[in-house]
Amino acid sequence: MEPLRLILLFLHLIGFALLLGGSIAQYLTGKLRISPAMLWGSVVMLLTGFGLAAPLRGGGDAEPPTAKLAVKLVIGCMIFAMVFFARKRTEVNRGHFLALVGLTLVNAAVAVFWR
Ligand code: HEM
Repeated sequence: MEPLRLILLFLHLIGFALLLGGSIAQYLTGKLRISPAMLWGSVVMLLTGFGLAAPLRGGGDAEPPTAKLAVKLVIGCMIFAMVFFARKRTEVNRGHFLALVGLTLVNAAVAVFWR
């Protein structure tokens, strides 16, 4: 299962690059809208996240805690909803956009620091 887990993790990180990189690149243009990179990034995060949440590490203590997975799933769904339902708007509120970036950073912090 290890090769599968590593491939999923690799794709998860590419999704992270699309979502965060896409958001920052968009922010720097000065026009706050949802770019295709952000939309696809949020989809990739959810799909690969589901895969990574499967018991791929041989079970027991090697698996990430269930509470961590639940928190990541809730935040991941919030990000997806905030991207998906605003994807056609020509501009979104500054608070909406910054919350998106903030939630992305929080979910990455949960992934890294919650052991
Ligand atoms: C935008 C949303 C997300 C971001 C920014 C994010 C970020 C990250 C990052 C940076 C890692 C690498 C951490 C490491 O290998 O040390 C990671 C791993 C992981 N993510 Fe996500 N993630 C997101 C959504 C999700 C979702 C929705 C799930 C599913 C519940 C999920 C489940 C996982 C799992 C299981 C790992 C492996 C962690 C471990 O082995 O302890 N992620 N995530």
